[in-house]
Amino acid sequence: MSKVFSGIRPSGLLHLGNYLGAIKNWIALQAKHDCIFAIVDYHGITTPFEPDELRQNIREVALDYLAVGLDPKHATLIQQSHVPEHVELGWIFQSISPVSWFERVPTYKEKIAQHPEYVNLGLLAYPALMAADILIYKSTLVPVGEDQLPHIELTNDIAKRFNHMFGSPPPLPLPKGEGRVRVEFFPPVKALLTEGARIMSLKDPRKKMSKTGDEGIALSDTPDEVRRKIKTATTDSGREIKAGDDKPALTNLLTIYSEVSGTPIKKLETQYKGKGYAEFKADLAEAVVEFLEPIQKRRKELEKKRGYVEEILSSGAASARPLAQKTLLEVKKKMGLI
Ligand code: TYM
Repeated sequence: MSKVFSGIRPSGLLHLGNYLGAIKNWIALQAKHDCIFAIVDYHGITTPFEPDELRQNIREVALDYLAVGLDPKHATLIQQSHVPEHVELGWIFQSISPVSWFERVPTYKEKIAQHPEYVNLGLLAYPALMAADILIYKSTLVPVGEDQLPHIELTNDIAKRFNHMFGSPPPLPLPKGEGRVRVEFFPPVKALLTEGARIMSLKDPRKKMSKTGDEGIALSDTPDEVRRKIKTATTDSGREIKAGDDKPALTNLLTIYSEVSGTPIKKLETQYKGKGYAEFKADLAEAVVEFLEPIQKRRKELEKKRGYVEEILSSGAASARPLAQKTLLEVKKKMGLI
């Protein structure tokens, strides 16, 4: 049974990109593996935020997690700041890693271009905290979207550096002829991508779908909002409904259609041969509405249960903290901090 960890920043409503790029895999993994899924609120404060909105967003993400089918009986759901050991290990990782590793991370460059007025140290150190989120549970499998791959690579670099500096004891001498197994303190981490690993913005297919405005479809969008957003989504030049490198907008719409309906893209291309964009978009909108309907229904029921979200997050922290404390204690011993 592999240990699985993943998280989402509470920076707005969850969208189809989050679902199709990451959470879809979480649901599949929760029954078979030891999973911890987090609302990474400390990562959420590295970009501009309003306290009241943040509080609300944490709750919204928790509700979305439960509504899409994450089951607290199978997976541990946590709010990152409830397990402060993540930050302690994050500090340790920052202290052993060269600054240059962080300066070249693509998301750091993107974020400082997006918010030039809000360039803070937390933003630069972001991947060290992410590495700590994963490694504090010695997780080996991280289901994420494609945009997170550089962070996973950096997590492995940090783990290797720690292992090299303080990690494994010298291998024990074994009887002649037998191989020596070197057990590393932090295991290597693997990213797990979905088929729809990269869902793009409805307005600009060169950008990934985000939580803002009409760029993305939130899991909680009403049927009319979904129809309007898809109707006004950018398309490519030409009339053919086909995926391909020269058709980024249609590739994206076909990917979404295929993912929500379970119909392969090739089959959709045949189905819409000779048909217009209007008919294609209208059908796509209905497929998305149908896909979201049960999620929204569950969400409404969960919203009515007072104190439920708080209860789930507090019992999640109670199960996760001892595991985090155990790793942190081992780390501190190895480093001479104890
Ligand atoms: P975040 O909050 O940006 O996104 C959460 C997850 O959703 C995926 N995702 C997408 N996938 C496909 N298409 C898209 N348009 C799209 N937009 C978002 C992301 O790849 C991600 O899997 N650094 C992380 C949060 C984090 C984390 C962790 C993840 C903190 N600690 C430890 C895994 C393990 C982030 O900002 O995700």
